[in-house]
Amino acid sequence: MDKLMIEGGSPLEGEVQISGAKNSAVALIPAAILADSEVTIDNLPQISDVSLLAELLEEIGGKVELDEHTIRVQPEEMIAMPLPNGAVKKLRASYYLMGAMLGKFKKAVIGLPGGCNLGPRPIDQHIKGFEALGAKVTNEQGAIYLRADELVGARIYLDVVSVGATINIMLAAVRAKGRTVIENAAKEPEIIDVATLLSSMGARIKGAGTNVIRIDGVESLSGCRHSIIPDRIEAGTFMIVAAAMGRRVLIDNIIPDHVESLIAKMREMGIHIEVFDDQVVIQGAGKELTGVDVKTLVYPGFPTDLQQPFTSLLTRARGTSIVTDTIYDARFKHVDELRRMGANIKVEGRSAIINGHTQLEGARVSASDLRAGAALVVAGLMADGITEISGVEHIDRGYENLESKLLGLGANIWREKMNGEEVRQLENS
Ligand code: EPU
Repeated sequence: MDKLMIEGGSPLEGEVQISGAKNSAVALIPAAILADSEVTIDNLPQISDVSLLAELLEEIGGKVELDEHTIRVQPEEMIAMPLPNGAVKKLRASYYLMGAMLGKFKKAVIGLPGGCNLGPRPIDQHIKGFEALGAKVTNEQGAIYLRADELVGARIYLDVVSVGATINIMLAAVRAKGRTVIENAAKEPEIIDVATLLSSMGARIKGAGTNVIRIDGVESLSGCRHSIIPDRIEAGTFMIVAAAMGRRVLIDNIIPDHVESLIAKMREMGIHIEVFDDQVVIQGAGKELTGVDVKTLVYPGFPTDLQQPFTSLLTRARGTSIVTDTIYDARFKHVDELRRMGANIKVEGRSAIINGHTQLEGARVSASDLRAGAALVVAGLMADGITEISGVEHIDRGYENLESKLLGLGANIWREKMNGEEVRQLENS
C-alpha cells in the first residue's frame, strides 16, 4: 500500500492539462456493449476505474485494447455472462453494466456496486426505469438479476434527479421498441457525452442536457469513434489548488461553462480568474480570501464532488463559511482529517461550518473516498510541514497522474510504500 507525502507551502506556477472525464468514461465504456461493431473511445483518463471496466468487458467476451488514452472495444462476441462478484463490486459505476447488458441481451446479472463510501447510495430509480421498460428485477444474494422478454419504451418520471439513473435508463432504452421519455432527468455534461456517443452509434436521442429526454428505440447500433469531454471535477480540483497556492496557474483543456458555479464562488471569495475558450488562469497565492457559503445542487449548481476540496480552501479564508451538501448528506468524512491538521470545522446535520483563516499543519491523515482524498491533497499543499495521506487507492480511482501534474506546478509531493506497522494501524482504524 502506498501513501502520498506532501511538504506544503510551495507556491505553484505553470500549466496543467486536464484529462478526460471519469464520470463520462465509466458510462461510455459499458455503452460500447450496445454496439454490434468496434467502438473507439479517445481522451480516456488513465485511472483504475477505467482499467477495471476494461477487464469487465473482457470477462463478458469482448476484445479490448487499452492504450494510454484510447480504448478499442470489439463487442461482437460478448455474451450475457453473469457478473455477480469480483471486479464488478470494486466500482460503483459497474451499475452501468445493468443498463447496457439489459439493452443488448435483455438480461443481466450484476453484483451490487461498491465505490466511494458517501453514505447510502440507493439505485431504486434505476430499477424503477428498468421495470417501466418491461424488465423483471430481483435482488438475489447481493446481485441484481434483470430479465425481459422484450423492452418497450415507456414514460419514466424520476422521483430523484439522478445522473446514474438517467444514463442507465438511456442505455437500456436505445434498443427498446418505441419511445421512452425520461422526465425530471439529470442535466450533467456527462449525460450529454453519453448521448453523443450513443447517437454516433445510431441511437435516436433528443433533449440530453435538459430535464426531458426522448429516446426512439432502434433495432441495432454500430461502432463509432468518440472523444471524451474534459473532466470538470478534475479541472475544479486544480482550480481550487491554484486558488490555494497558485502564483499563476493555467488550467488547460477545460470547458469553462462546466465549472461556472465554481468560478462564481471563487470570485466571491476574492480570487482572480481569467476565463478563455478552453482555459482558465488563476492567481490565488498570498491573497486575502473571504469566506463564502456553498450549497451543492444538481448541475448546473455547485457540484457535490467539489464540496470536499473546496472546504479545505475555505480554511484559508477569513470569517465563517458554511458548506451544505444537499446531494449526499454524509459526505463529510474529510472533516475529521482536516481537524487533525488544525482546521476549525464542525459538522451539523448536512453542513460543515468552517471558521477560517487557519494555518493548517501537516499531519497523518487518511482518505476515506476519492474527493476526500482531493480535499486532503489541497490541505497538504497549504499546510506547514509534511502531510502523509493514506487511502491513496481512492485517489487513483479518479485522478490521472495527480502527483506528476502537481510536481509540474512546483509542488513537493511524492509517494512512499507504507510499512507493516502503518498498514496494521490503518486496518485497525
Ligand atoms: N439517488 C436515489 N436513488 C437512485 C439514485 C440516486 O435516491 O436510484 C440519490 C442519491 O442517493 C443521491 C442523489 O440521488 O442523493 C444523486 O445521485 P446520482 O444518482 O446523481 O449519483 P450517481 O449517479 O450515483 C454520480 C457520480 C458521482 C457524483 C454524483 C452526483 C458517477 C459514476 N458518479 O453518481 O461522482 O457525486 O453523480 O453528481 O458518475 C465522484 O466522482 O466522486 C462521484 C461520487
